Amino acid sequence: MNVLIVGGGGREHALAWKMADSDVIDEVLIAPGSDAMGQIMDCRVLDVAEEDQEALVQTAQDEEVELVIIGPEAPLAAGLTDRMQQAGLRVFGPTAEAARLESSKQFAKEIMHKYNIPTGAYAAFTDAEEAKAYIREQGAPIVVKADGLAAGKGVTVAATMDEAIEAVDAAMTEKAFGEAGSSVVVEEYLEGEELSFMALVHGTSVVPLVTAQDHKRAFDGGTGPNTGGMGAYSPVPHLDGAWLEQAEKTILRPMAEALEQEGIAFTGVLYAGLMITEEGPKVIEFNVRFGDPETQVILPRLESDLVQVLLDVMDGKEPELQWSSNACAGVVLASEGYPGTYEKGIPFTMPMTRSDEIQQFFHAGTTVNSEEVGWKTKGGRVLLLASQAPTLQEALQMTYDVLRQKDWPGMFYRQDIGQRALKK
Ligand code: AMP
Ligand code: GLY
Repeated sequence: MNVLIVGGGGREHALAWKMADSDVIDEVLIAPGSDAMGQIMDCRVLDVAEEDQEALVQTAQDEEVELVIIGPEAPLAAGLTDRMQQAGLRVFGPTAEAARLESSKQFAKEIMHKYNIPTGAYAAFTDAEEAKAYIREQGAPIVVKADGLAAGKGVTVAATMDEAIEAVDAAMTEKAFGEAGSSVVVEEYLEGEELSFMALVHGTSVVPLVTAQDHKRAFDGGTGPNTGGMGAYSPVPHLDGAWLEQAEKTILRPMAEALEQEGIAFTGVLYAGLMITEEGPKVIEFNVRFGDPETQVILPRLESDLVQVLLDVMDGKEPELQWSSNACAGVVLASEGYPGTYEKGIPFTMPMTRSDEIQQFFHAGTTVNSEEVGWKTKGGRVLLLASQAPTLQEALQMTYDVLRQKDWPGMFYRQDIGQRALKK
């Protein structure tokens, strides 16, 4: 069978690499994919934009695709799943209505409160003055979030009231995130450590994956602006165990059931961004797709056939999920200036890595440099190097050893991925 992956970043590179390894596929098609994905055996990149719903449906039909996986949130929120289902295609990804769990923070908060799913207190506003009055009443620290999708950048964790008020102005008055910020959610600051916990969901059947920890801030020590994610590792030994069972029981399963109760069919990845507080796990956000960069450190640990696993989940069968006991550590190379503005088209070459099985670069924003050997930068996040080893310390060492072999023109990376886990 043929599968189609929609998207073109690091997460989709990892999905393509893993799915190409499946025993049940003939070909993995990726739209729009990237030059790097076109180099994977049994993968073919199609020149179709992720926004072009009609062309994606047509391509999937022409290529006799039997399973579609949609990577990023934007096409999900725009209703690509709905359109494909109408055309009779089988999609692992939620409809636009179900994707509101990610595309509207207010919707997510309302449903969590209705079904007693643990999360911080909040209030939602479409009026900047009312938002500011609420902030003055609540005090700092406090969190201000643009309601809509803003590529992980619409969130301000404000240490002071002034900072929170500035964030309201930026989102609502200056429209820094466009329409996504025309309403804001102001939320209780939660203290603790973050954990990404994803499950494959079909209706009320919930199959949890192994956990990962992302590093959202741009710079070392958790400083600088929020990004899409600067590095990740899996598993998260100091947060696993009892917390995970609790999170599955109080968060992931109840959310799948809540959606069912609301008459919203959900098929796809339910991703809970958790804060492990003193009172237990609480939800920071829900996403409705594989995490990026979490996927790049989780999939290398999956020993089972991912395509078969997804088919089983959609058929209501218990999938066979085998995980390597290895740790996997991934560090992102980002363009200098990211998450703000940055230059594109800077040429670079890559050092040798170990075999694909234990170490590899996932490309997030690159193109082949057609004038010379090597690559050119094309995005904010450029590459992620993932390494696997028996311990997290060794996996991190393997990644940093390769990154430190050379200079990375126009790029930077965090030096402290996974460090907190090592100190526990
Ligand atoms: P989000 O896009 O909602 O995941 O937020 C981005 C980042 O902001 C999260 O990964 C957290 O580091 C931080 N954050 C969001 N909400 C809160 C909260 N209520 N309390 C503390 N930190 C938060
Ligand atoms: N790494 C966070 C996300 O995928 O939203």
